[in-house]
Amino acid sequence: MKQKLLLVGCGKMGSALLTGWLSRDIDELDVIVVEPAGGNVLEKNFNVPVVNSLDKLNVEFRPNIVVFAVKPQAMDQIVPNYGHFVGPETMFLSIAAGKPTDYFQNRLGNSASVVRSMPNTPAAVGRGITVAYRNHAVSDDQKLIATKLLGAVGEVNWVEDEGLIDGVTALSGSGPAYVFLMIECLAQAGIRVGLDPILAEQLARVTVAGSGELARQSTDSASVLRQNVTSPGGTTAAALDVLMAKNGLQELISEAVLAAEKRSRELSG
Ligand SMILES: NC(=O)c1ccc[n+]([C@@H]2O[C@H](COP(=O)([O-])OP(=O)(O)OC[C@H]3O[C@@H](n4cnc5c(N)ncnc54)[C@H](OP(=O)(O)O)[C@@H]3O)[C@@H](O)[C@H]2O)c1
Repeated sequence: MKQKLLLVGCGKMGSALLTGWLSRDIDELDVIVVEPAGGNVLEKNFNVPVVNSLDKLNVEFRPNIVVFAVKPQAMDQIVPNYGHFVGPETMFLSIAAGKPTDYFQNRLGNSASVVRSMPNTPAAVGRGITVAYRNHAVSDDQKLIATKLLGAVGEVNWVEDEGLIDGVTALSGSGPAYVFLMIECLAQAGIRVGLDPILAEQLARVTVAGSGELARQSTDSASVLRQNVTSPGGTTAAALDVLMAKNGLQELISEAVLAAEKRSRELSG
């Protein structure tokens, strides 16, 4: 059956998803974008119709998937306008941080089929990971469609306990920022040991990217990969003695992820 998809918001994450759908050529997908600004650029880049507000949408277009990809703080104004699309044939898929499924049910109606998902920014290069949760009204077929759509930009997992999305947000949703910080820290440290800043940045960036790719492709655990680069009494061991000391990196990262999880719970209200 032809899927009619309305993409609400085509910023960083929305355009990453759209790129994935179009490049994967997801069968029978008919997309219209609602985006207040930049319609011409989007139409040119993606070759899909764009309207700058919902009231410009052709009334004949009745979506069976509505993807909310706007900022969480914009949702209060936007979501209630989509209530007339609610029905068993229509699934609402949100990628917004801190907006639980009952937030959408309260604004769209209790019978609305809602998938809450948490992707991350490597979706922009097709290497994201998304965790999703469905409410009571989402059918197995709709779950399958959501998996396909989210899977166009990376891996997909589902949880049956919506509360876990806060932990997911703290780990993989915010996680790219932790990794980028690691690149920044490594580059700074490289400058401190006398390297030229450009070389230090290149070494840090390529080391993180290459190690990530190695971890992705390898069947070994991360700790085995770490041990593989660590000779007793060698240079790596000297560094790891610092990083793995009491109150070292493990402790710091745990605290950071716990802080993010707490904040996600606060935002989810
Ligand atoms: N970026 C991340 O790391 C990340 C990770 C996981 C989840 N998310 C979630 O993804 C969602 C989108 O984030 P983003 O980073 O892609 O934000 P973004 O780049 O700001 O994109 C949001 C887009 O929505 C547009 N918009 C505003 N009002 C609209 C309306 N009434 N109808 C349709 N579109 C409207 C915005 O246009 P204007 O710019 O003209 O206002 C903008 O282009 C958020 O809910 C966020 O929580 C983001």
